Amino acid sequence: MTPWSAIDAIRRKRDGQALAAPDIQALVEGYVAGRIPDYQMSAFLMAVYFRGLDAREMTDLTMAMARSGDMVDLGDDPRIVDKHSTGGVGDKTTLVVVPLVAAAGAVVPKMSGRGLGHTGGTLDKLESIPGFRIALSPEEFRSCVKRVGAAIVGQTGNLVPADKLIYALRDVTATVESIGLIASSVMSKKIAGGARRLVLDVKAGRGAFMPTAEKALELARAMVAIGRQAGLGVVAVVTAMDQPLGRAVGNSLEVAEAVRCLQGQGPEDLEHEAIELGSHLLVLAGLAVDAAAAGARLKDLLRSGEGLEKFRQMVAAQGGESRVADDPDGILPAAPATAEAVSPASGWVRSIDALAVGRLTMRLGAGRERKEDVIDASVGVVLAAKVGDRVEKGGRLGTIHARTAGEAGEGARALEATYELAGQAVVVPALVLGIVR
Ligand code: URA
Repeated sequence: MTPWSAIDAIRRKRDGQALAAPDIQALVEGYVAGRIPDYQMSAFLMAVYFRGLDAREMTDLTMAMARSGDMVDLGDDPRIVDKHSTGGVGDKTTLVVVPLVAAAGAVVPKMSGRGLGHTGGTLDKLESIPGFRIALSPEEFRSCVKRVGAAIVGQTGNLVPADKLIYALRDVTATVESIGLIASSVMSKKIAGGARRLVLDVKAGRGAFMPTAEKALELARAMVAIGRQAGLGVVAVVTAMDQPLGRAVGNSLEVAEAVRCLQGQGPEDLEHEAIELGSHLLVLAGLAVDAAAAGARLKDLLRSGEGLEKFRQMVAAQGGESRVADDPDGILPAAPATAEAVSPASGWVRSIDALAVGRLTMRLGAGRERKEDVIDASVGVVLAAKVGDRVEKGGRLGTIHARTAGEAGEGARALEATYELAGQAVVVPALVLGIVR
């Protein structure tokens, strides 16, 4: 029998054939072990970029990557759920959804990430709460989840080393933007983290990885197909990311907004998205008969303050200053300088470029240009006007929170440039663009 050959497998994918599970396993295992060099993995990734993967191949790639390191076993309590966002600007939904669904009886042992590029990360946001610890020992993590029903931590152990290696290679070989590779990258991390019931928030638009609703729907279908083949309960919700979600962008500013949302004070788009995602989680957990009943329950928990109380308990259990739930502005770090962005004309807001706002917030110090950069929790942007709002000439579009007056002033001018105005009333576009089950 001829021995297995990486060249042969690459050639078959190059020519548009589907690879068998053992081929995919051998490629991933060989690469992680150092037997397959970067140039062969790069050629394989480029072949996948052009030829794509079918649902079975995507699942095989996902499972081969998931098994490349530790696999967390969270048990099979049906109430255990997880949520993942593909990344957006101002997306603090996790901070609202997790305590809300935990208040409804779901169990959320959540591993989150740091900011990536112009998009923020839940861990960076939580770390703006004084004392909050995202690095818990496995025992502490279990204990928090048991007592509170939810905990949010950083990745521990050796989870999916194959993804770390392959992602780094994709980044430098122009092969990031492949539906099959993105779907297997995301799903391998969720499966290795022990998720069995998962809601995916797939962002579409200017501030997202997927520029259009069609592309985002394709990615959503791919991830749901992988989930189905791997035996997970998965619902994907495609949501708009053309303008930032909510009004705040920047770590402590976003925590403050999430707290106000849990206090029942909106903003409307954030509350709407949190209820939408949370309702699918409750249905998957068997805690509601359908999404409508789940949504009504979550709204009750929001109005009654039980979601906020759960947030307070979670923060306290992870060592954070729990008074943040009563007085976020008094507890969270505040930037020393502010400046206002003002409208150059009267009109209606047609668009706010989420990507530009994300990049501006990064430049203010809220994100990292390089992995080792230290972020500033206090800086960011708070939008006063959103798409559809009427603004007057000289009226406030938003406020910049910065380290210096100079940076605040520059930021304000840059924020003004992210707004596009219309001469007549603008229809506010839908937030939820599709649901894939
Ligand atoms: N997020 C991931 O985790 N992986 C990708 O490939 C893209 C976005």
